[in-house]
Amino acid sequence: MKKKILFVCLGNICRSPLASAILKQLVSNAGLQDHFIIDSCGTSGNHQGEGADPRTIQNALRNGVTLHHRARKLRPEDLNSFDLILTMDQHNYREAVRLAEKDGFDSEHIRMMRSFDPLSADPQADVPDPWYGVESDFEEVFQILHRSCVSLLQSIRTFTFTAVPD
Ligand code: 4NP
Repeated sequence: MKKKILFVCLGNICRSPLASAILKQLVSNAGLQDHFIIDSCGTSGNHQGEGADPRTIQNALRNGVTLHHRARKLRPEDLNSFDLILTMDQHNYREAVRLAEKDGFDSEHIRMMRSFDPLSADPQADVPDPWYGVESDFEEVFQILHRSCVSLLQSIRTFTFTAVPD
């Protein structure tokens, strides 16, 4: 069974498409691409159909990551069809949980992205929204998402691919 992971932010043009591209690259580098479905979306539909923000694209490129992306809005069925839903901030988290509960879906699999950040003292910390920021803010987001994705993949590999004989 493929592991289905969905990243969620507000506009789906900065943080969540970057998280998706980073994790896809890490998964591909590990030769595990056949074991994963990785996607992203936004709680707002304001940028639906757009590519990623040019500042995110440029920063990612400088860090060796290429984005191929079209923005889309979070759909109620996403809350049921993905194994793990990782939200970038408290606003996205509350919205995803609200939508899940509205449709009677479980919300245990909805978590904050930085619960995987090895450098965050607070597992509920936000990935800061870089929309009104400058290049250093985009770089900070990249570093947070990269180290969180490394840790996320390590956790999934340990959990999913370690044979536990009984
Ligand atoms: P994202 O960033 O949620 O990481 O994609 C934003 C993108 C657009 C806006 C805000 C945040 N906006 O206000 O349009």
